[in-house]
Amino acid sequence: MNDGQGAPTADRTTARDPSRFEDRFAARATGIKSSAMRDLMSLTERPEIISLAGGLPDTDCFPDEIFCEVWEAVATKYKASSLQYGPTEGLLELRQYICEIMRSEGAIAQPDEILVTAGGQQAIALAIGAFIDPGDIVIAEGPTYPGAVPTLTTNQAQVIHIPLDANGMSIDSLEEHLDRLDSQGRQPKLIYTIPNFHNPGGVTMSLERRHQLVALAAERDILIVEDNPYGAIRFEGDALPSLYELDAGAGGVVYLSTFSKILSPGVRIGWVAAPALILRKMNLGKQAIDLCSSTLGQRFIIEYLRRHDWRQHVGRLNIIYSSRRDAMLAALSNEFPAEATWSHPRGGLFVWATLPEYLQTSELLARAIDRHQVAFVPGGAAFLDGQGQHSMRLNFSSSSEEKITEGVHRIGAAIEAMTALQRAFGGGV
Ligand SMILES: Cc1ncc(COP(=O)(O)O)c(C=O)c1O
Repeated sequence: MNDGQGAPTADRTTARDPSRFEDRFAARATGIKSSAMRDLMSLTERPEIISLAGGLPDTDCFPDEIFCEVWEAVATKYKASSLQYGPTEGLLELRQYICEIMRSEGAIAQPDEILVTAGGQQAIALAIGAFIDPGDIVIAEGPTYPGAVPTLTTNQAQVIHIPLDANGMSIDSLEEHLDRLDSQGRQPKLIYTIPNFHNPGGVTMSLERRHQLVALAAERDILIVEDNPYGAIRFEGDALPSLYELDAGAGGVVYLSTFSKILSPGVRIGWVAAPALILRKMNLGKQAIDLCSSTLGQRFIIEYLRRHDWRQHVGRLNIIYSSRRDAMLAALSNEFPAEATWSHPRGGLFVWATLPEYLQTSELLARAIDRHQVAFVPGGAAFLDGQGQHSMRLNFSSSSEEKITEGVHRIGAAIEAMTALQRAFGGGV
């Protein structure tokens, strides 16, 4: 059918019902749980909503003149090659820069141990895809990165969450779980962890626990997948060695990171550092998905790194984010009920807050968006086993201090209204 304006359209009255394919979905597609952040992103684009839900770095802070200068250099020097396919493992010069960035954080890797990926998200998907068959056990912090949830469900992983406290993953609890599994003749395939400025937990794993985790994983022969997008987004305190560094080349850690938080998520470039055997499998996995990461994005980063010191940009970001973090912590003290608790992040982008048990944050979110024009990520999005119902993730990197203060005020108002409702209906307040 033609609508008379040139574009052919389907005739809706005679189109067959697409639901006839519903029972043909693969088992792995049937169980996929959406990343709550992605769902929320479309809702929170409404201008009247203050969104503390996203995990967005503030890309406005990237200097205009540097953006134009770098693109112009890419366009004049690398037009044809940046419009071309590239090697699956990524451009060599970028892999060399990645090794320099890792070295500045104390981790030693060689360019042939690096695979450039389409953001840190693809790095997670390739690592999980390389190791996890349906029913395999993955250990993850509880809460874990909400964006990893669809990856874990797609691969039908059985996830065991290990509680997170102010010093990161509880190694005692991990050891108990490993002992229990061992007594059943089972073993996790891998431990997925975010040691620095956890998303969404807002905490950092202590040095002691890093040593314990690397030693325990080595002793039990379990691979660690270390996800480190936030190591450089540090406002205070000393940098701690990565698990990859502590493993000292023993091949027990696959390290993932990304340019998304230090430069731009829009370029969609991240990376994996791993032993050759594992990297080869992940490279094959990537070939099957997208052949290679955007050459244009890689060229932009190379040209940027040739001309500028990324640490200066990150230094500027950290000053801005730390003031926003302070604004959020102050607002939480003023607006949240006395029984609520929250993390005090020393870097990263997020605060994790937990409300009294009579408040469900998914219900609160519906009310907060509808009546108070404010959004956050409900804690359940960071678990695969139904935990997190009273918690929420709040982002402080992408809103001004005024908006953060107002946004937390609005959530406080939504909490008050829900608490009053609970009281009226005799709930357990
Ligand atoms: C812990 C963690 N891992 C991975 C990612 C994904 O990174 P990217 O945006 O580079 O795909 C994020 C993004 O928020 C994250 O917080």
